[in-house]
Amino acid sequence: MTGFADRHIGTGAHDQRHMLRAVGAGAVEELMADAVPEAIHESGAPAGLPVAASEQEVLERLHGLAAMNTVRTSMIGQGYYDTHTPAVIQRNVLENPAWYTAYTPYQPEISQGRLEALLNFQTMVIDLTGLGVAGASMLDEGTAAAEAMLLARRATKRGGPRSRFLVDADTFAQTKAVLRTRAAGVGIEIVETDLSAGVAPEQLDGVFGVLVQLPGASGRVPSRGALEELVAAVHERDALVVVAADLLASTLLASPGELGADVAVGTTQRFGVPMGFGGPHAGYLSVHPGLERQLPGRLVGVSRDADGAPALRLALQTREQHIRRERATSNICTAQVLLAVMASMYAVYHGPEGLRAIAEGVHAKACRLAYALREIGVSLAHEHVFDTLELVVPGRAEDVRRAALEENITVWVEDADRLRVSVDEASTDTDVADLLGAVARALGTTPGPLAPESPGSALPPDMVRTSPYLTHPVFSTYRSETAMMRYLRRLADKDYALDRGMIPLGSCTMKLNAATEMAAVTWPGFARIHPFAPAEDVAGYLRLVADLESWLGTATGYDAVTLQPNAGSQGELAGLLAIKGYLAARGEAERDVCLIPASAHGTNAASAVLAGLRVVVVGTDPSGNVDLEDLRGKVTEHGDRLACIMITYPSTHGVYEEDVREVCAAVHDAGGQVYIDGANLNALLGHARPGRFGGDVSHLNLHKTFCIPHGGGGPGVGPVAAREHLAPFLPGHPLAQTPQRADGAISSAAFGSPSILPISWAYMALMGGTGLRRATEAAVLAANYVAARLEEHYPVLYRGTSGRVAHECILDLRPLKAATGITVDDVAKRLIDYGFHAPTMSFPVAGTLMVEPTESEDLAELDRFCDAMIAIRAEADKVAAGTWPKDDNPLVHAPHTAECLTGEWTHPYTRAEAVYPVPGLVEGKYWAPVRRVDGAYGDRNLVCACPPVGNFEAAPAR
Ligand SMILES: Cc1ncc(COP(=O)(O)O)c(C=O)c1O
Repeated sequence: MTGFADRHIGTGAHDQRHMLRAVGAGAVEELMADAVPEAIHESGAPAGLPVAASEQEVLERLHGLAAMNTVRTSMIGQGYYDTHTPAVIQRNVLENPAWYTAYTPYQPEISQGRLEALLNFQTMVIDLTGLGVAGASMLDEGTAAAEAMLLARRATKRGGPRSRFLVDADTFAQTKAVLRTRAAGVGIEIVETDLSAGVAPEQLDGVFGVLVQLPGASGRVPSRGALEELVAAVHERDALVVVAADLLASTLLASPGELGADVAVGTTQRFGVPMGFGGPHAGYLSVHPGLERQLPGRLVGVSRDADGAPALRLALQTREQHIRRERATSNICTAQVLLAVMASMYAVYHGPEGLRAIAEGVHAKACRLAYALREIGVSLAHEHVFDTLELVVPGRAEDVRRAALEENITVWVEDADRLRVSVDEASTDTDVADLLGAVARALGTTPGPLAPESPGSALPPDMVRTSPYLTHPVFSTYRSETAMMRYLRRLADKDYALDRGMIPLGSCTMKLNAATEMAAVTWPGFARIHPFAPAEDVAGYLRLVADLESWLGTATGYDAVTLQPNAGSQGELAGLLAIKGYLAARGEAERDVCLIPASAHGTNAASAVLAGLRVVVVGTDPSGNVDLEDLRGKVTEHGDRLACIMITYPSTHGVYEEDVREVCAAVHDAGGQVYIDGANLNALLGHARPGRFGGDVSHLNLHKTFCIPHGGGGPGVGPVAAREHLAPFLPGHPLAQTPQRADGAISSAAFGSPSILPISWAYMALMGGTGLRRATEAAVLAANYVAARLEEHYPVLYRGTSGRVAHECILDLRPLKAATGITVDDVAKRLIDYGFHAPTMSFPVAGTLMVEPTESEDLAELDRFCDAMIAIRAEADKVAAGTWPKDDNPLVHAPHTAECLTGEWTHPYTRAEAVYPVPGLVEGKYWAPVRRVDGAYGDRNLVCACPPVGNFEAAPAR
């Protein structure tokens, strides 16, 4: 019988023998012994990892875990609401590999579908918040608020140094918690104030920004007059106003933009994305025009392709941490694309009237409940509300909570005297009546029947929204399920994802995301759980979290693991803050220098700055290793100011550095800590453990090594693993169901993005320790095989001392450019014509391609890729030989669309050479929907919302 590992690993024993011959090794063990430095290489997978189980067994165990969670009617609210995911979206997006296995749309020509969905997301956010520019998703509401805080500080810099950020007391507890963590890192003082009665001038002294939540955590909706007064007072002091707005409420309430806000943040969870015990969900951030260059994260914009047709791509990328490194203003990289796509499609499917109807239904239920509660003598804290009521029940809140639980309903207990209930899209009349009955019973009264109709609106009259939204035709065209299904299919067809072929992106580990691993994500036992549900209701989740923490700790050789960070970048920040906390506790707070090799991923430097550290760059030697001499010099130079080093292992150069123990020792000897970026763990698992060869802390990317699909740019999970001495300084959360410190929250939810943890849990359970070790071997073999096959056509830039690469290899295209004029871009785009996603371009070395084949590709696909690269080299040689002119050849014109073949053909190469350069492509050819996209044009003419349909009509036929 074939075990799961044999399905996950693409190359079988026969293929591997062939590949070993090509790389000149007798056996995989020999290759690994050659490649991995002896000083760190372990002889077997660590004990303590699970024993491989079959797919059926793992599904059964996951069903068991889901059954240990109790699905109730959640009226807890506080930022998380039950919602109906339209089945057409669940099946065609969330459960569709064409959407979930795609990568971040850095190659726009093969990403037009998800870019369009993200443009819809941005347009939806722009319309509902009334602000001119929105990004393509944030990690969650809390981190979006933190990004807004940092944005406000940057944007108000000219007004002199100000370090206070005012936060309204009526803001979600988790948002306040994340703000406190992030503020402390960079010397901002959070001042929590009750702003319901306005703001006194002296309260604004030294303040650069103010955050208010709409509606408040207590459900309160302030009057427009009060909000406008607040905005005016804040603007008077040249400070910015951030409104954390509930987008469903915004369909009925004046938008943040109309109120004069500068920035809006929040979550789009209740737009069809399950609560999932806290995530993943797409956060959002929008700003008024003029602040767009300050936006963190990714921004989709409209540009044009080589034929002048409209084409989408990521805009203003020079803002991003990849480019700006330690000058970056945000470290966000992986975001929440798949969830943003879902939320945008929820808006596309329901349209403006549909969303309004849902919001009105929610509001009407809240009003009926409020009326009935008042009838039985319950006093409510606020007259003006949208969906949340705060019940004032002196000394009886706990009694009411228990009575509600008897009705299978969970509520939010604020304190002994007050509790809150939120109505949502999924609340039924029965739920509301049951809640009413429970309250009445707890208070010893009898309720009357719920009024069939709402007794009237509870929105402040001056806050009622009159402005239109979602007026673009995309929000009114796809109303029938047929139309919606076809729209989703049409967009997916434009894109290249793992379901079409190999995505050999170095540093990204685009491996198989197996169907069995994905299965549990949508089960109600995982999906319909509120993050603040009582501990007894989430036993299955807690067990799953504990298993995963333990397995990941074992696999990496660390003592403690937190799953809270919801991306690698957030893990980096959490790990660095743990180092800072530890040093401060030892009385060494003055240690603030973070050494980072020149080759590091941009997030490393950006995270260090956000943790309040000073980045000092360490050079690399000609072989790509950390330059030990430079390192020792920097260690001496910074002496007792040295906080830590941040290295990636194996390095981003794709090699196992021999000297890693020496690097770690040099820093430890000087009193510093060692952060090992674990994004490349796919080259180590089962063979070496960072916690055992010198690391004090690492983040892992579950969306790389542990099979969480990339979702077109997220979700991710970036757990942090640390040695014992750092464990007390890992993130805590004030609302966690397990004992942990209340501060240090790095994500809105205590366990980050738990609903996708079953994916990594399943992967580890299916593979077992032995399978994980084998996967690493297959990944390293595949990279060495590609290096061996391509070496003579493209030099492999770096190799370890044994001549081996690790799990990826860097192909140097600079000699090709010098000889032929053909650039990395040309090769990357030509690969599209050959039916491939390009490898990582120009990272970490400009003018190179970094190839990471992963263990999941089979030999045929690896060969197809190598053959394509070799054929492209031959094409480039024809250019050098003058057979094709430098400015008119299939490389510089790539990619070719079907449409570009239909007009007059004046090129010196044939149509067949353009699109069928190798015969195997005729069947199942992937056709790029646009020609090469002109990014600079779009940046000069910034359009980041759905353009009028007329723009497309005026474009060349397509
Ligand atoms: C080496 C390395 N470190 C850190 C990160 C950041 O991880 P994330 O994108 O999840 O924030 C990446 C992501 O590509 C990476 O390749």
